Amino acid sequence: SAPIVRTLSELGSRIDAWKAEGEIIGVVPTMGALHDGHLSLVTAAKAQCDRVIVTLFVNPRQFNNPDDFAKYPRTEAADAELLGPLLVDALFVPDAAEVYPSSHTTIVSVGGISAPLEGVHRPGHFDGVATVVALLLNMTRADRAYFGQKDWQQLQLVRRMVNDLKMPVEIAACPSVRDADGLALSSRNLRLSPQARRLAAALPATLFAASSQIEAGEPTEPVLAAARTRLAEAGLGPLEYLELRDAETLGEPRPGHPARLLVAIWLDGVRLIDNVGVGLR
Ligand code: PAJ
Repeated sequence: SAPIVRTLSELGSRIDAWKAEGEIIGVVPTMGALHDGHLSLVTAAKAQCDRVIVTLFVNPRQFNNPDDFAKYPRTEAADAELLGPLLVDALFVPDAAEVYPSSHTTIVSVGGISAPLEGVHRPGHFDGVATVVALLLNMTRADRAYFGQKDWQQLQLVRRMVNDLKMPVEIAACPSVRDADGLALSSRNLRLSPQARRLAAALPATLFAASSQIEAGEPTEPVLAAARTRLAEAGLGPLEYLELRDAETLGEPRPGHPARLLVAIWLDGVRLIDNVGVGLR
């Protein structure tokens, strides 16, 4: 089982020792309920860094919906077990009181990228994410930090924050890990009924089909309209968004630049998000 570290002072003395040896530190920030998607980030970090810290903190500030926060799965003991064989150097599980003491008033807000898509449907979410990621990067003093493409808008937001604030950390992106039927792994998938879990396969299938149609030169709007219909007919919904965006800015797609097709949709009371690349000609 991975060694659990709960306080910043204990984490700090371990980091001091590693830094004194000139070791490269990698961090994998998570909210726990670990699955193979998280573990792929840990494996990448282990391959590229001397020391790896996994953080487990269900960040209250990024939940715009109190019910979602209450229902978020918490499986700390199982998480520590899963990380044992991967030889993680520390599983950092801070208290909310240490991350956000009552004196805390600073909010990190990343302009532009935070506004569309998730920003429209989850007000305040990305301020919570940017603030906690800045805190976690500072607390762990990591040289490299690993994020999944599954949360594409979050990944671009973190890249922009680190660039804008000139934070001395390198951001590494890892591809989405999917189940055999294509559904991207997510801690929230645990809340789907078996029947809903079967229907969910229509989401990646629709995304990948629409992406190839757009790449083949079909006009974007009719392809997106057909994809929205296909999702509804497959029993998914309500749909929050299905949009083609510039992969980096999340603004309007720019010819000759990488684009991304992003979706958020409800199924069985669970909010699913996913995205795929689209090579625009
Ligand atoms: P969480 O949802 O636990 O995800 C932690 C990391 O795992 C994120 O970088 C996410 O993109 C990645 N991840 C999740 N599912 C994945 C999958 N199927 N394939 C590949 N990577 C996957 O994202 C968060 O936590 C939080 O917002 C956090 C960054 C920790 C800040 O609180």
